[in-house]
Order: sequence, then C-alpha cells, then structure tokens
Amino acid sequence: MTSVISVSDLSLTFETNDGPVHALSKIDLEVEKGDFVSFIGPSGCGKTTLLRVIADLEQPTSGNISVNGTSPENARKDRAYGYVFQAAGLYPWRTIAKNVALPLEIMGLSRQEQERRIRKNLELVNLAGFEKKYPWQLSGGMQQRASIARALALEPDLLLMDEPFGALDEIVRDHLNEQLLDLWAKTEKTVVFVTHSIPEAVYLSTKIVVMSPRPGRIEDVIVSDLPRERPLDIRETPEFLSLAHRVREGLRAGHSYED
Ligand SMILES: Nc1ncnc2c1ncn2[C@@H]1O[C@H](COP(=O)(O)OP(=O)(O)O)[C@@H](O)[C@H]1O
Ligand SMILES: [Mg+2]
Repeated sequence: MTSVISVSDLSLTFETNDGPVHALSKIDLEVEKGDFVSFIGPSGCGKTTLLRVIADLEQPTSGNISVNGTSPENARKDRAYGYVFQAAGLYPWRTIAKNVALPLEIMGLSRQEQERRIRKNLELVNLAGFEKKYPWQLSGGMQQRASIARALALEPDLLLMDEPFGALDEIVRDHLNEQLLDLWAKTEKTVVFVTHSIPEAVYLSTKIVVMSPRPGRIEDVIVSDLPRERPLDIRETPEFLSLAHRVREGLRAGHSYED
C-alpha cells in the first residue's frame, strides 16, 4: 500500500498574546490511497489545524509530514488536493458554472478544457442543468455540492473536507453523505474529512481518528470493518452501533470534566 499522507511525531503550538496554545501534540497518522479517513473530536481539539497542516496552510512546530511522498508545500504546488470548507464560499455574482471555473481560470486552462471539467464535475455531484443558476437560487445542500464540484475540478486524487455538511439539517446531511460515498466509490479518491458527528464519521469512513483537546492529540484510530457499499439503514446494524460505541468511548476518554 502507498501512503498518501504520512505524519509522525508532529506537534504544532500557536504563540498567542495569552501564551502558547498547544493545538497538536505528537500526532502519528497514515492515510493510504483510497482511504476515507475522518477526524472526529470536540470543538478546539485541532481537527482544522491538522487538515491545514496537510494542506500546507499551517506549519508544524516539530515532527514530520509527507503528502504524496513529498512535502506539503510541493504537494500544494502540484495541486495534489482539493479543499472543501464548511461554508460553500461561492461568489454570488458568478453562476454555478463560473464558480467552478474560477480555479481553472487561475490555472490558465483552455476554455474547452474548462468546459469539459465543469460539465463532468457538476454531473458527478448531480448538478447537471444548474450551470447558469446563481448560488442564491440553490438550496444550502446544492451550494455545498457546487463547492465540492469546484474542488473536484482541479482533478486531485486527494480531497480534504472540513465539516462540509456541518451547517445543514440532518435530512439533507444524510442525503449528501450517501452521495459523497457514491462519489468516492466512483472516483476512487482519497478523502480526509472533518466532522463532530459520530454517525457521520462511522457511516462514511474506512478509518476514524478520534481526537481530544488540550493538547490536541489522537485518542484512538478505528479501522472500520463495514463493507464499502453502505445503504443508509446500515446505521441500524449491530456492527455500525458497535463502531459508534467505540468512537463515543474514545471521545469520553479524551474529555476533561474540569472544562
Ligand atoms: N491561528 C491561530 N492562532 C492561535 N490559536 C489558534 C489558531 N488557529 C487555531 N487555534 C487554536 O488551536 C486550537 C485548535 O483549533 P482548531 O484546529 O480550529 O480546532 P477544531 O477544528 O477541532 O475545532 C484551538 O484552541 C484554537 O483556538
Ligand atoms: Mg474546525
């Protein structure tokens, strides 16, 4: 197996006016090609910081990390990953197609190649036919799908997603989770996904990384034995519930009741 992401003994401390904040402490992590890895943990445990380190948006204080066998900086310059934020972040004055086109314009791709990628990726997220709409004409879930299409249009093998469905109601989220698994199966991408929902983490992941705060560290790494094909009602099976139980135990172990 090839490691897409390899992290060893990585720590990150933010120096602030109120003193140091130990956001990540001694993190070890391997993400293999084709994995769907979730980071789960309470607010402030360093999930976003770890994702940003992988994306070269934050520099570790110590330790080692490689992405696609090279440094995060090289991986970023090679456009090795797409990044999806919690807020869709679409430009309201651009149509959906033009929003997906933006990073492609910046890359300087030909008009024809831009159009091919827009069509292909809007189709992948089930938004074919919405090219000429503006973001405000779409529901929250559709806007989030458009932002996923924009990340996919870079054609990265690695997708980094920071609580992409966190702001959506549960019914929409269920639906998007199903579609995301479908997309993952179709495209064979490697996904690193941040969430604080236990059912979401268990439903989506091949590997669940349970994190705890102060300092942010890894409490447990759970390799899922669920089949890759997952209808939504798999969430009622004993296998699913036992994984959810183990995640909950990990979260509880990392919780400090003095907070
Ligand atoms: N740029 C920064 N400067 C100082 N502290 C930060 C910065 N970014 C994050 N932090 C702190 O690092 C910790 C981890 O933050 P974060 O990674 O955003 O957590 P999570 O995504 O799990 O909620 C928090 O205590 C947060 O306040
Ligand atoms: Mg966060």
